[in-house]
Amino acid sequence: MTFSQLRTFLEVARQGSVRAAAASLLITEPSVSAALAALRDELKVALVERDGRGIRLTAAGTELARYAAQILGLSEQAVRRTREAAGQAAPLNLVAVTTAGEYVLPPILKVFREAHRDVQLRMEVGNRTIVLDRILAREADLGFGGRPPEGRGILGVPFLDNELIVVAPHDHPFSNETSIDAALLAGETWLVREPGSGTRETTQEFWAKHGFQVASAMTLGSNGAVKQAAAAGLGVTLISSHAVTAELATGALRQLAVKDTPLRRSWYVLYLEADPLSGSCRQFLDLLASPDARTAVSNWFGGVGVGHA
Ligand code: PGA
Repeated sequence: MTFSQLRTFLEVARQGSVRAAAASLLITEPSVSAALAALRDELKVALVERDGRGIRLTAAGTELARYAAQILGLSEQAVRRTREAAGQAAPLNLVAVTTAGEYVLPPILKVFREAHRDVQLRMEVGNRTIVLDRILAREADLGFGGRPPEGRGILGVPFLDNELIVVAPHDHPFSNETSIDAALLAGETWLVREPGSGTRETTQEFWAKHGFQVASAMTLGSNGAVKQAAAAGLGVTLISSHAVTAELATGALRQLAVKDTPLRRSWYVLYLEADPLSGSCRQFLDLLASPDARTAVSNWFGGVGVGHA
């Protein structure tokens, strides 16, 4: 069993097909199939089975995928720590939920990069499950999300306020109201993010807290799609104010003055509690704990004349 075979197998597990894994790894499909066959022959168990046009993991394959992620993550960590022990800066692998990756981290990465040009930075953006998986497998050193995990050995440290607000098209009938009962919004079309999104979970909790069954909801797979649909008049949405700074400033969207909002949350940096932190990780955590990170986020749109919501 080689690292390369395990890496290929893990990509098949994540992509759900040989073709997609080959494209993602920039190798040929026969090479992917050969790696799967070699692992099957060595372990003498079936690891994948046909599922329509793709493939899915057997129970044995699911178990191997869990170990493969950990083995590869630990080996990457070994390389990082060894280089660091020799005086080289450890690369920093980050993973963020969509909203944080798109609207919070970019200006912070810029400040970090200016101060630490020797640190190689990489950031994956995914849903909450991906963020937690990458941290647990040690494929990412630090993760970012709006909801701290419970248990699982992952520490969540808040570093920035995250206010969730209800926004609507600029000409919404409630846009000039000053105090709107949430229950009045039960009849609206709600635009919601995809399953796995933290914003979606928060929205569902908001509905439940206010005791309404939403008559009409439309799932859209990204913040961009949700915002454009809201601006086009398709409905209302609960969204992090960080994601709609520009649209509120230009008037494309209006914040509705719904009672009990903004929902005041935090953005969290997440990492394995029991693992030693690399020097690069500590430098990033120091930046997050300093006012520089908050200033970078709130000034982000300042340069193009857009103020913070
Ligand atoms: P999301 O995450 O961008 O996946 O919705 C936001 C959050 O975790 O609050």
